[in-house]
Amino acid sequence: MKGGNTPDDFLIYGQWMKEQGVDLIDCSSGGIAPVSVKSYPGYQVPAATLLRNKLNIMTGAVGLIDSAGLAEDIVQNERADIVLIGRGMLRDPFWVRSAADELRTTVPVPAQYTRYGSWWLDNQPKPVPAPMSKTEEKY
Ligand SMILES: Cc1cc2nc3c(=O)[nH]c(=O)nc-3n(C[C@H](O)[C@H](O)[C@H](O)COP(=O)(O)O)c2cc1C
Repeated sequence: MKGGNTPDDFLIYGQWMKEQGVDLIDCSSGGIAPVSVKSYPGYQVPAATLLRNKLNIMTGAVGLIDSAGLAEDIVQNERADIVLIGRGMLRDPFWVRSAADELRTTVPVPAQYTRYGSWWLDNQPKPVPAPMSKTEEKY
């Protein structure tokens, strides 16, 4: 296909998937035509938002989602239903834990890490509480 797929094509394929009972579409675009892809954090998110809004189907966003803040923005602002992390996880296999720290929250520890006792768990850095803003202090 000359020039590759367009957003209108995504909608047609997405509609077919929905009709076949697909629950969630991972909106990752690929190399079906020799086009140069400009990649930057979140570069494929618009496709997930488009399909989610136009087809009323759950979508997963990909595309250099490299920070907890960006992931949180996508999910909280309903730009997609989930985020899927590829290269970020290759760079940091503890990406989810690092993201939880960045968002000043915690995630459950996989059972495998608790198998040989609690030394590892006991020595994990604790998330630093966010400093209160002047407005928050009043309430
Ligand atoms: C070198 C490279 C080639 C890729 N080729 C395809 C592809 O052909 N089709 C596709 O759907 N996604 C392709 N992707 C997108 C990955 O599937 C996508 O990056 C993955 O879902 C996770 O996103 P992230 O690595 O940006 O976090 C490619 C990604 C990279 C880095």
